[in-house]
Amino acid sequence: MKVTIVGAGAVGASCAEYIAIKNFASEVVLVDIKEDYAEGKAMDLMQTASLLGFDTKITGATNDYSKTAGSDIAVITSGIPRKPGMTREELIGINADIVKSVASSLIEQSPDVTIIVVSNPMDTMTYLVHKTTNLPKNRIIGMGGALDSARFKYRISEALDCPASDVEGMVIGGHSDTGMVPLTRLATRNSVPVSAFLSEERINQISEDTKVGGATLTKMLGTSAWYAPGAAVSSLVQAIANDQKKMFPCSALLEGEYGLNDLCIGVPVILGKNGIEEIVEIELDEAEKAKLKESSEGVSKTNGLLDLKK
Ligand code: LAC
Repeated sequence: MKVTIVGAGAVGASCAEYIAIKNFASEVVLVDIKEDYAEGKAMDLMQTASLLGFDTKITGATNDYSKTAGSDIAVITSGIPRKPGMTREELIGINADIVKSVASSLIEQSPDVTIIVVSNPMDTMTYLVHKTTNLPKNRIIGMGGALDSARFKYRISEALDCPASDVEGMVIGGHSDTGMVPLTRLATRNSVPVSAFLSEERINQISEDTKVGGATLTKMLGTSAWYAPGAAVSSLVQAIANDQKKMFPCSALLEGEYGLNDLCIGVPVILGKNGIEEIVEIELDEAEKAKLKESSEGVSKTNGLLDLKK
């Protein structure tokens, strides 16, 4: 199992670290445009192997995609991250050109690769990869919902003063401050609906805190977060690498599912060796449907800013 991660910044390096610690991939290649940067991160990480006990071989490459040849999975984290006060949508101009060229270089070396898109605005970048490559739709996945759901579960566990492992919950919709749809109705503590423990007001607060989860950290850290994004990506990579058939909300190309068409947005999917093996259509109530519809309009509006003729 060979995994390429493009962008050796904080998110890319965290992702490599978690993949290595979980010890399921034989090889991880980090690629960056900055001279020696990916090689340096790879070396630093490899020097943890004897301490942490992993066998994954991590190497780095400065913009040399020949080193990525034969990758099973590739993660695109390249592009500029958010600064405090910026929305993910404001990154579109710069990141679209980068993501498009990275995807094409990856596919040239690994025609059967499965691509996980992390660069923001993520749903639109995922759509761009669908529109500008010939990869089958199951092999292009946007990572947002796994991260947003982890932040949702963190907020619920905080409110319940319980471990996050006691909590189940999912966020669907666009990966943006206004687009996320935390499914509070379905969130549980060990199968008991959270509404049994928390007031409606507290649940609404959890929902709002979840939606600005990334923005809150960007403000605190001065740049976009990396531990939870890296861990979320590593979970998707593992589900595909180990053919786990696990369910995650991911940005998938919709063709009629949830009444939506011609966009990528977060919905529950089953991840296995074929990438997105199935889009799961769960029953939403009227309010949830309306929120998802509104979220899809926001994503489509951002997609409209792409210059697909370039
Ligand atoms: C975040 C970025 C990765 O939500 O979108 O932290």
